Amino acid sequence: MRQLLWVWMLLMAFAFVNDRCHCCLQEERSGLLEIKAWFIHAGAGSYMLPGWDKEDLNCCNWVWVSCDSTTNRVIELHLSFGNSGALEKDLYLNASLFLPFKELESLDLRWNQLVGGLKNQGFQALASGLRKLKILHLSYNKFNDSILSSLSGFSTLESLDLSGNSFTGTVGLTGLRKLAVLYLDSIDFKENILLESLGGLPSLKTLYAIESKFEGKHFGKGQ
Ligand SMILES: *[C@@H]1O[C@H](CO)[C@@H](O)[C@H](O)[C@H]1NC(C)=O
Ligand SMILES: *[C@@H]1O[C@H](CO)[C@@H](O)[C@H](O)[C@H]1NC(C)=O
Repeated sequence: MRQLLWVWMLLMAFAFVNDRCHCCLQEERSGLLEIKAWFIHAGAGSYMLPGWDKEDLNCCNWVWVSCDSTTNRVIELHLSFGNSGALEKDLYLNASLFLPFKELESLDLRWNQLVGGLKNQGFQALASGLRKLKILHLSYNKFNDSILSSLSGFSTLESLDLSGNSFTGTVGLTGLRKLAVLYLDSIDFKENILLESLGGLPSLKTLYAIESKFEGKHFGKGQ
Protein backbone atom coordinates (compact mmCIF):
# COMPACT_ATOMS: atom_id res chain seq x y z
CA MET A 1 0.00 0.00 0.00
CA ARG A 2 2.75 2.40 0.94
CA GLN A 3 4.54 1.56 -2.30
CA LEU A 4 1.42 2.39 -4.27
CA LEU A 5 1.22 5.73 -2.52
CA TRP A 6 4.79 6.46 -3.52
CA VAL A 7 4.11 5.62 -7.13
CA TRP A 8 1.06 7.85 -7.09
CA MET A 9 3.00 10.76 -5.56
CA LEU A 10 5.75 10.36 -8.10
CA LEU A 11 3.26 10.36 -10.97
CA MET A 12 1.60 13.51 -9.64
CA ALA A 13 4.97 15.22 -9.32
CA PHE A 14 5.81 14.36 -12.94
CA ALA A 15 2.44 15.58 -14.15
CA PHE A 16 2.98 18.87 -12.29
CA VAL A 17 6.49 19.42 -13.66
CA ASN A 18 5.37 18.56 -17.16
CA ASP A 19 2.45 20.92 -16.94
CA ARG A 20 4.62 23.77 -15.68
CA CYS A 21 7.29 23.28 -18.31
CA HIS A 22 5.17 23.30 -21.48
CA CYS A 23 8.07 21.36 -22.88
CA CYS A 24 8.15 20.00 -26.34
CA LEU A 25 8.58 16.28 -26.76
CA GLN A 26 12.08 15.07 -25.87
CA GLU A 27 12.15 13.04 -29.10
CA GLU A 28 11.32 16.10 -31.19
CA ARG A 29 13.88 18.22 -29.36
CA SER A 30 16.67 15.75 -30.08
CA GLY A 31 15.37 15.43 -33.65
CA LEU A 32 15.78 19.17 -34.12
CA LEU A 33 19.33 19.03 -32.75
CA GLU A 34 20.14 16.29 -35.28
CA ILE A 35 18.74 18.46 -38.08
CA LYS A 36 20.88 21.33 -36.84
CA ALA A 37 23.99 19.14 -36.84
CA TRP A 38 23.17 17.96 -40.37
CA PHE A 39 22.89 21.48 -41.76
CA ILE A 40 26.01 22.64 -39.94
CA HIS A 41 27.88 19.68 -41.39
CA ALA A 42 26.68 20.83 -44.82
CA GLY A 43 28.15 24.27 -44.24
CA ALA A 44 25.34 26.27 -42.61
CA GLY A 45 26.58 28.53 -39.85
CA SER A 46 25.24 27.79 -36.37
CA TYR A 47 24.21 31.47 -36.25
CA MET A 48 21.50 30.49 -38.76
CA LEU A 49 19.77 28.48 -36.04
CA PRO A 50 20.04 30.83 -33.09
CA GLY A 51 18.70 29.45 -29.86
CA TRP A 52 18.59 25.83 -31.04
CA ASP A 53 20.23 24.61 -27.90
CA LYS A 54 19.83 21.49 -25.78
CA GLU A 55 19.74 23.63 -22.64
CA ASP A 56 16.50 25.24 -23.81
CA LEU A 57 13.94 22.53 -23.14
CA ASN A 58 11.07 24.17 -24.93
CA CYS A 59 11.87 23.73 -28.58
CA CYS A 60 8.48 25.23 -29.41
CA ASN A 61 10.10 28.62 -28.77
CA TRP A 62 12.96 27.98 -31.15
CA VAL A 63 13.16 30.08 -34.28
CA TRP A 64 11.79 28.40 -37.48
CA VAL A 65 9.76 25.92 -35.36
CA SER A 66 6.02 26.12 -34.64
CA CYS A 67 4.07 23.85 -32.34
CA ASP A 68 0.43 23.10 -31.77
CA SER A 69 -0.56 25.21 -28.76
CA THR A 70 -2.38 22.44 -26.93
CA THR A 71 -0.29 19.36 -27.70
CA ASN A 72 3.13 21.10 -27.95
CA ARG A 73 3.91 18.87 -30.92
CA VAL A 74 5.93 20.40 -33.74
CA ILE A 75 3.63 21.20 -36.68
CA GLU A 76 5.79 23.54 -38.82
CA LEU A 77 9.45 23.58 -39.74
CA HIS A 78 11.13 26.24 -41.89
CA LEU A 79 14.61 25.11 -42.85
CA SER A 80 16.23 27.12 -45.59
CA PHE A 81 19.94 27.83 -45.49
CA GLY A 82 21.46 27.92 -48.95
CA ASN A 83 20.16 31.29 -50.07
CA SER A 84 23.25 33.08 -48.85
CA GLY A 85 25.55 30.55 -50.51
CA ALA A 86 26.31 28.99 -47.13
CA LEU A 87 25.86 25.37 -48.11
CA GLU A 88 29.03 23.97 -49.58
CA LYS A 89 27.84 20.80 -51.19
CA ASP A 90 24.91 19.07 -52.78
CA LEU A 91 22.66 17.46 -50.20
CA TYR A 92 20.68 14.24 -50.33
CA LEU A 93 17.57 14.26 -48.19
CA ASN A 94 17.73 11.92 -45.22
CA ALA A 95 14.12 11.15 -44.32
CA SER A 96 15.12 9.77 -40.92
CA LEU A 97 15.82 13.30 -39.78
CA PHE A 98 12.15 14.20 -40.10
CA LEU A 99 10.44 11.03 -38.93
CA PRO A 100 10.21 12.09 -35.24
CA PHE A 101 7.80 14.86 -36.27
CA LYS A 102 4.68 12.73 -36.68
CA GLU A 103 2.31 15.69 -36.42
CA LEU A 104 4.13 17.86 -38.94
CA GLU A 105 1.76 19.77 -41.21
CA SER A 106 4.13 22.11 -43.01
CA LEU A 107 7.73 21.51 -44.09
CA ASP A 108 9.78 24.19 -45.82
CA LEU A 109 13.05 22.97 -47.36
CA ARG A 110 13.55 25.63 -50.03
CA TRP A 111 17.06 26.86 -51.00
CA ASN A 112 19.02 23.93 -49.59
CA GLN A 113 20.97 22.57 -52.57
CA LEU A 114 19.04 19.33 -52.33
CA VAL A 115 19.64 17.08 -55.34
CA GLY A 116 17.63 14.02 -54.32
CA GLY A 117 17.03 11.55 -51.55
CA LEU A 118 19.34 9.06 -49.90
CA LYS A 119 18.75 5.49 -51.01
CA ASN A 120 15.65 4.20 -49.16
CA GLN A 121 15.61 7.45 -47.16
CA GLY A 122 14.19 9.84 -49.69
CA PHE A 123 10.72 11.18 -50.30
CA GLN A 124 8.98 7.80 -50.29
CA ALA A 125 10.18 7.21 -46.72
CA LEU A 126 9.27 10.76 -45.79
CA ALA A 127 5.75 10.40 -47.21
CA SER A 128 5.06 7.22 -45.29
CA GLY A 129 6.32 8.79 -42.04
CA LEU A 130 4.57 12.16 -42.22
CA ARG A 131 0.89 11.31 -42.43
CA LYS A 132 -0.38 14.82 -41.60
CA LEU A 133 1.72 16.85 -44.02
CA LYS A 134 -0.31 19.45 -45.93
CA ILE A 135 2.31 21.91 -47.17
CA LEU A 136 5.68 21.06 -48.71
CA HIS A 137 8.12 23.64 -50.10
CA LEU A 138 10.93 22.14 -52.18
CA SER A 139 11.56 25.18 -54.35
CA TYR A 140 14.98 26.48 -55.44
CA ASN A 141 16.85 23.25 -54.88
CA LYS A 142 18.60 21.18 -57.56
CA PHE A 143 16.11 18.39 -58.06
CA ASN A 144 15.69 16.78 -61.48
CA ASP A 145 12.78 14.82 -62.93
CA SER A 146 13.81 11.62 -61.15
CA ILE A 147 12.33 12.74 -57.80
CA LEU A 148 8.84 13.43 -59.16
CA SER A 149 7.65 9.82 -59.10
CA SER A 150 8.78 9.46 -55.47
CA LEU A 151 6.36 12.20 -54.38
CA SER A 152 3.27 10.08 -55.10
CA GLY A 153 2.93 8.87 -51.49
CA PHE A 154 2.12 12.34 -50.12
CA SER A 155 -1.60 11.63 -50.16
CA THR A 156 -2.45 14.31 -47.56
CA LEU A 157 -0.57 17.12 -49.31
CA GLU A 158 -2.64 20.19 -50.23
CA SER A 159 0.06 22.60 -51.42
CA LEU A 160 3.34 21.74 -53.14
CA ASP A 161 6.02 24.17 -54.31
CA LEU A 162 8.48 22.72 -56.83
CA SER A 163 9.57 26.02 -58.38
CA GLY A 164 13.09 26.74 -59.52
CA ASN A 165 14.39 23.18 -59.82
CA SER A 166 16.00 21.46 -62.81
CA PHE A 167 12.87 19.73 -64.06
CA THR A 168 12.39 19.29 -67.78
CA GLY A 169 8.89 17.81 -67.76
CA THR A 170 9.65 14.18 -68.66
CA VAL A 171 8.01 12.68 -65.54
CA GLY A 172 4.47 13.26 -64.29
CA LEU A 173 2.95 13.69 -60.83
CA THR A 174 0.59 11.00 -59.56
CA GLY A 175 -1.14 9.99 -56.35
CA LEU A 176 -1.44 13.47 -54.85
CA ARG A 177 -5.17 13.21 -54.49
CA LYS A 178 -5.67 16.16 -52.13
CA LEU A 179 -3.29 18.54 -53.87
CA ALA A 180 -5.09 21.83 -54.52
CA VAL A 181 -2.23 24.28 -55.20
CA LEU A 182 0.92 23.59 -57.20
CA TYR A 183 3.80 25.97 -57.88
CA LEU A 184 5.95 25.29 -60.95
CA ASP A 185 7.50 28.75 -61.30
CA SER A 186 10.83 29.28 -63.07
CA ILE A 187 11.01 25.93 -64.84
CA ASP A 188 12.22 25.41 -68.39
CA PHE A 189 9.96 22.67 -69.76
CA LYS A 190 11.22 20.60 -72.67
CA GLU A 191 8.54 17.89 -72.56
CA ASN A 192 4.87 18.06 -71.64
CA ILE A 193 4.47 14.87 -69.60
CA LEU A 194 4.54 16.71 -66.27
CA LEU A 195 2.00 19.30 -67.36
CA GLU A 196 -0.31 16.69 -68.89
CA SER A 197 -0.19 14.61 -65.70
CA LEU A 198 -1.78 17.48 -63.78
CA GLY A 199 -5.12 16.63 -65.39
CA GLY A 200 -5.08 13.44 -63.31
CA LEU A 201 -4.82 15.21 -59.94
CA PRO A 202 -8.44 15.28 -58.76
CA SER A 203 -8.27 18.23 -56.33
CA LEU A 204 -5.95 20.57 -58.24
CA LYS A 205 -7.45 24.05 -58.41
CA THR A 206 -4.53 26.44 -58.87
CA LEU A 207 -1.33 26.14 -60.83
CA TYR A 208 1.35 28.82 -60.78
CA ALA A 209 3.94 28.77 -63.53
CA ILE A 210 5.32 32.29 -63.31
CA GLU A 211 8.54 32.80 -65.28
CA SER A 212 8.35 29.27 -66.62
CA LYS A 213 8.98 28.51 -70.26
CA PHE A 214 7.73 25.85 -72.56
CA GLU A 215 9.98 25.47 -75.58
CA GLY A 216 10.95 29.09 -75.26
CA LYS A 217 7.41 30.42 -74.69
CA HIS A 218 6.65 32.16 -71.40
CA PHE A 219 3.63 31.19 -69.37
CA GLY A 220 1.50 33.86 -67.84
CA LYS A 221 0.23 33.39 -64.33
CA GLY A 222 -1.68 30.15 -64.88
CA GLN A 223 -4.91 29.29 -63.12
C1 LIG B 1 20.19 9.80 -41.52
O1 LIG B 1 19.77 10.44 -40.34
C2 LIG B 1 19.75 9.56 -39.21
C3 LIG B 1 19.14 10.34 -38.05
O2 LIG B 1 19.89 11.47 -37.76
C4 LIG B 1 21.15 9.08 -38.93
O3 LIG B 1 21.14 8.20 -37.83
C5 LIG B 1 21.70 8.37 -40.16
O4 LIG B 1 23.05 8.02 -39.95
C6 LIG B 1 21.60 9.25 -41.37
N1 LIG B 1 21.97 8.49 -42.54
C7 LIG B 1 22.97 8.87 -43.34
C8 LIG B 1 23.28 7.95 -44.46
O5 LIG B 1 23.56 9.91 -43.18
C1 LIG C 1 19.06 13.30 -61.30
O1 LIG C 1 19.69 13.52 -60.06
C2 LIG C 1 20.21 12.35 -59.46
C3 LIG C 1 20.74 12.74 -58.09
O2 LIG C 1 21.73 13.70 -58.20
C4 LIG C 1 21.29 11.74 -60.35
O3 LIG C 1 21.78 10.55 -59.77
C5 LIG C 1 20.68 11.45 -61.71
O4 LIG C 1 21.69 10.99 -62.59
C6 LIG C 1 20.03 12.68 -62.30
N1 LIG C 1 19.30 12.33 -63.51
C7 LIG C 1 19.41 13.03 -64.64
C8 LIG C 1 18.57 12.56 -65.77
O5 LIG C 1 20.11 14.03 -64.74
